[in-house]
Formats: sequence, structure tokens, C-alpha cells
Amino acid sequence: MKGIILAGGTGSRLAPLTNVTNKHLLPVGRYPMIYHPIYKFLGAGITEILIVTGREHMGAVVSLLGSGSTFKCSFTYKVQDQAGGIAQALNLGRAFVGDDHCCVILGDQVFEDSIAPFVKNYLAQKTGSKILLKEVEDAPRFGVAELSQDGKKVVGIEEKPAKPKTNLAVTGIYFYDAQVFEIARTLKPSGRGELEITDVNNYYIAQGAMTWDLLKGNWTDAGTFDSLLVANNLMQGVDITKQE
Ligand code: DAU
Repeated sequence: MKGIILAGGTGSRLAPLTNVTNKHLLPVGRYPMIYHPIYKFLGAGITEILIVTGREHMGAVVSLLGSGSTFKCSFTYKVQDQAGGIAQALNLGRAFVGDDHCCVILGDQVFEDSIAPFVKNYLAQKTGSKILLKEVEDAPRFGVAELSQDGKKVVGIEEKPAKPKTNLAVTGIYFYDAQVFEIARTLKPSGRGELEITDVNNYYIAQGAMTWDLLKGNWTDAGTFDSLLVANNLMQGVDITKQE
């Protein structure tokens, strides 16, 4: 399984902190934000990792992370010329993933669970996709999942709904087979002009090829001032290099 970290985007919600640097280089606890998804991959034994970021900050990202030798892994880099959406950034991973499976983590995800059990569950299902959900109080900020009555299947995801049907946020941790690149190719830009990962996920759902799991520990994104503070409080004093 390959790992992909999507660390592009404009970070505009964190301006002026992000005026001259990439959001994913900002501190979260004792480490730059991007270290958090990196160590989640390493904890699950995923050591081939693609990092996608924008052209403005690729130099700083490579300067920080290098080849991966200091992390005992291998980094590959791809430039996303413009912030055209999460699915557009993911599409840059086509050649890197090849016929393999991939786990995609958005670069601003900060959470406690190890992904190792989810990787294992996903690989056992062999094809399709898996998403990880988390109960939240501010569901309209996220992709929100609706489940079937028996709770076994995801029946749909709405991106940032004004009136969410559940409090189950779709976290930015996704598992896909290589079909994801065929799906991403067919997408049209959304109302906000982006290729949406939610459209990719709804495609898998329509095929009956989507499973889900729940994160047990704390989870947050770190893309707004409030959530960046939550992320920092969560990781205060935590040495992420020493845990799964
Ligand atoms: O945090 C989970 C949420 O992330 C999900 O619930 C939503 O369904 C999903 O759309 C996403 O929502 P956000 O509005 O928080 O996404 P944002 O635009 O902040 O982008 C999140 C990360 O994705 C960002 O840290 C870097 C990466 N990204 C984003 C864009 C727009 C890219 O690599 N390239 C991009 O063009």
C-alpha cells in the first residue's frame, strides 16, 4: 500500500500565517503539521509516500523533509500548479500508485488513532474504498456521511451541508484502489470551482464499493484558527515520533 499526503491548497483561512509559508509547515505541538500524517503512515508500515503541494512552497517542503532517509522512508513529490481541489491533487498520484492501493491523508489531519488496523481491514476487502468517520459537533464544516438504517453502509455524503443529516464527519483519511484515478478523471468542478473528494466517494458509494470505520480517539483538522488551536492542545507535549 502506498501513502499520499495532500498538502497543497491556499491555506487562506489561516492568513496571514500562511502568506509566505505552507499551512502544513505550521507548528502543531512539537512538530510541523505535515509530520503528523507522515508518522501515521510510518506507524502502519507504509514507507512509500507521495507528497503533493503547490509550486510556491515545494522548495520549503523538500528542504524540511528531504528524501525520507531521516524518516526511514521514501518521499516522492508532485507539484499541484493551482489549488483545484483535493481530487485534483489526488489525481497527481496516478503513476505513483500504479496498480497498488493507496491511503490518502489530507495534510491538515491531526488525530490520535493508529491507522494500522484500518489499513488491515481495508486490504482484507481487496477492492473499493474505505472512509473513516468521526462524530463531531460542527458537522456543517465537513463532508457529512449518512448511513443505512442498519448502520452497515454509507448511503451518501454531503459536502458542508447547511442542515447535516448526521453528526458523522468524513475525516480526511481515505483508502482507495487504483480505480480512484479513473473516477477522478471524470469529475467536473463543483460550485466552489474544485474537484471534490466527496464526488469521488459518492461514486464508490453508488457502486456499493464503500466501507467505513469510526475513529475512536480525538480527531481534528487544523485548517482554521480554532481547529489549529484544538490540534495544538491535542498534541501539546506529545512525541509523535515515538508512537504508532
Ligand atoms: O478535514 C476533513 C474535510 O476535508 C472533509 O470532511 C471534507 O469532505 C473535505 O472536502 C475537506 O474539507 P476542507 O474544506 O477542510 O478541505 P480544504 O480545502 O481545507 O483542504 C484540506 C487539505 O487538502 C489541505 O490541507 C491540503 C489539501 N488540498 C486542498 C486543496 C483545495 C490540496 O492538496 N489541494 C487542493 O487544491
